[in-house]
Amino acid sequence: MVKAAGKQSCGRLVFASFLALLAFGLIADFLWASSHRFSSSAMLSLPSSVTTVVGKLPPIEKDSGNKKKKKDDNGRERKLSATFQDLPAPQLHWEKMSASPVPRLDGAAIQIRNFLYVFAGYSNINLVHSHVDVYNFVDNKWGGRFDMPKEMAHSHLGMVTDGRFIYVVTGQYGPQCRGPTAKTFVLDTDTNTWSDFIPLPVPRYAPATQLWRGRLHVMGGSKENRHTPGLEHWSIAVKDGKALEKEWRSEIPIPRGGPHRACVVVDDRLFVIGGQEGDFMAKPGSPIFKCSRRLEVVFGDVYMLDEEMKWKVMPPMPKPDSHIEFAWKVVNNSIVIVGGTTEKHPETKKMVLVGEIFQFNLNTMKWYVIGKLPYRVKTTLVGYWDGQLYFTSGQRDKGPDDPGPRKVIAEMWRTKLILNP
Ligand SMILES: *[C@@H]1O[C@H](CO)[C@@H](O)[C@H](O)[C@H]1NC(C)=O
Repeated sequence: MVKAAGKQSCGRLVFASFLALLAFGLIADFLWASSHRFSSSAMLSLPSSVTTVVGKLPPIEKDSGNKKKKKDDNGRERKLSATFQDLPAPQLHWEKMSASPVPRLDGAAIQIRNFLYVFAGYSNINLVHSHVDVYNFVDNKWGGRFDMPKEMAHSHLGMVTDGRFIYVVTGQYGPQCRGPTAKTFVLDTDTNTWSDFIPLPVPRYAPATQLWRGRLHVMGGSKENRHTPGLEHWSIAVKDGKALEKEWRSEIPIPRGGPHRACVVVDDRLFVIGGQEGDFMAKPGSPIFKCSRRLEVVFGDVYMLDEEMKWKVMPPMPKPDSHIEFAWKVVNNSIVIVGGTTEKHPETKKMVLVGEIFQFNLNTMKWYVIGKLPYRVKTTLVGYWDGQLYFTSGQRDKGPDDPGPRKVIAEMWRTKLILNP
């Protein structure tokens, strides 16, 4: 009932906004999460019909962000394929495993030994989860569901583990496009018990979070409106799930703010990878904090912090990539990143999902595209066990020819991981 009603009102709002924006000559993508039903309606056939491919384009265009229309030899407008951002990638053999008990978008995941803990997330745009499901890589089964604290955020969390304690920092509280909470928690995975932790100085939406040199670091993300990038960086000394200090301290700000990035510590260096500036915001005055699209800028920047405590610029990803905060694993001194979203279509402004797996080899500091996913998908939750790379959850594309977001998934897949040495 709630879901159906939500969709109808969503439809009216989206339609009204669509007309308004058309009047200003702007075509934007309003599709998101549960509003996918409208993707096949006549209403949105206008943006997709203007994307017909005329002439062959290379898989990625360096100047694809250029909004000026190009003319081809016949003087006709040259259009970009909806899939032009796909990169050539090796085909992999994928095996479908048992699906997670619930579908999840913008959830969080932490692997400890043979267990993948998956937290929170949207089931659909009007419904968020407040529990944890656990996958066991040894018997390939889901089980061990338990509740999260009532006050804990439901999506866009910062999360990291020391191998036993999981630190859960800030994140969005509630469905649709509500703002973040500053509340912070610790889960002891030996006993599955929760405790409170010192709140972040201000709430943050999808901040980069890691444990590094005995301190819990939290940086970037969006400010309370979900859209404005935050550059702040805080840390606090921690041990065994407890703070060793009374308050968070300010650290060197991150060079570029924004949510949805991978944050990884390898060999005493902290990396922040990809992400975006801007995100959907609550529609002003909406009692349900209805999500409305704001045009985000996705990037592939990689920044590294070492003992000098100065940010260093590393080689960028093969393409801009966002929505990857729990979509990575470290294997054999390489960071492996699964799916995500890339920069929006330059003409239709539609969101474009990523269907590749990337490897950042820290021996050579080189990026590789190492495989194709079964489909394009964002906010995947990733694990690695016994030579196999696993992913579950997220939001997948509309199909091979349409990289826009559609279904929120529960599926779990695995493939043998093949790395470039
Ligand atoms: C990681 O390194 C070990 C030891 O060299 C090797 O046996 C294994 O195949 C490597 N794993 C991957 C995924 O490349």
